[in-house]
Amino acid sequence: MIIRSPADDSEFETYYALRWKVLRAPWNQPPGSEKDEFEGNAIHLAAWNNSGKMVGVGRLHRMAGRQGQIRYMAVEPVAQGRGIGKALLEELELRAVQEGLIEIYLNAREEALQFYTDSGYELLGPAHLLFGAIPHFRMRKGIVGRLGSGAKLARCRDSPRVTHAPYRAPEIVGRPGQAPS
Ligand SMILES: CC(C)(COP(=O)(O)OP(=O)(O)OC[C@H]1O[C@@H](n2cnc3c(N)ncnc32)[C@H](O)[C@@H]1OP(=O)(O)O)[C@@H](O)C(=O)NCCC(=O)NCCS
Repeated sequence: MIIRSPADDSEFETYYALRWKVLRAPWNQPPGSEKDEFEGNAIHLAAWNNSGKMVGVGRLHRMAGRQGQIRYMAVEPVAQGRGIGKALLEELELRAVQEGLIEIYLNAREEALQFYTDSGYELLGPAHLLFGAIPHFRMRKGIVGRLGSGAKLARCRDSPRVTHAPYRAPEIVGRPGQAPS
């Protein structure tokens, strides 16, 4: 598996299509509904399997202060449960540390609560109801100390499985809000 940022328009098209397929299509939401106003200033990551197919996506954007928000985590349904989501989440957290962020917030769907809890996120309480049907829950993780060690960073940088594409540092955009996943 390779995890890196989409590199061109074609890869971004595939990236948004996977996001839409997993997070929006099941609720009959139109193409385009899978994007928000922070896309241009976010860190986008995707996972490719050994056949070169994109099988997972996730995004980090910076909020006010040293906080980040992870949104739009989605793994191809047939590839779920194989560690792809976890690998994407860890890489997004690593990028957050590299950006100098100290904590990450997200709004999780009920069925993904365990996934995030297993990765060290604490449940803060109920958030919004997406599309009037999908309850979300606010979660938080402090990332200083947990990922900030040089050993962890060095290990990830050396890993042959993960490539680090250059990316533009995101500007401070938004505040810890109730944005959906
Ligand atoms: C949630 C999602 C991103 C997780 O990605 P994934 O590749 O399926 O998860 P992983 O295989 O990396 O799982 C990592 C760990 O979380 C656990 N886990 C994953 N999904 C879980 C779920 N729905 N319920 C309980 N545990 C779950 C796994 O058992 C695994 O535990 P382990 O490390 O002890 O083996 C993915 O399942 C998905 O796209 N789901 C549908 C869309 C969605 O809900 N997105 C999140 C929006 S907030």
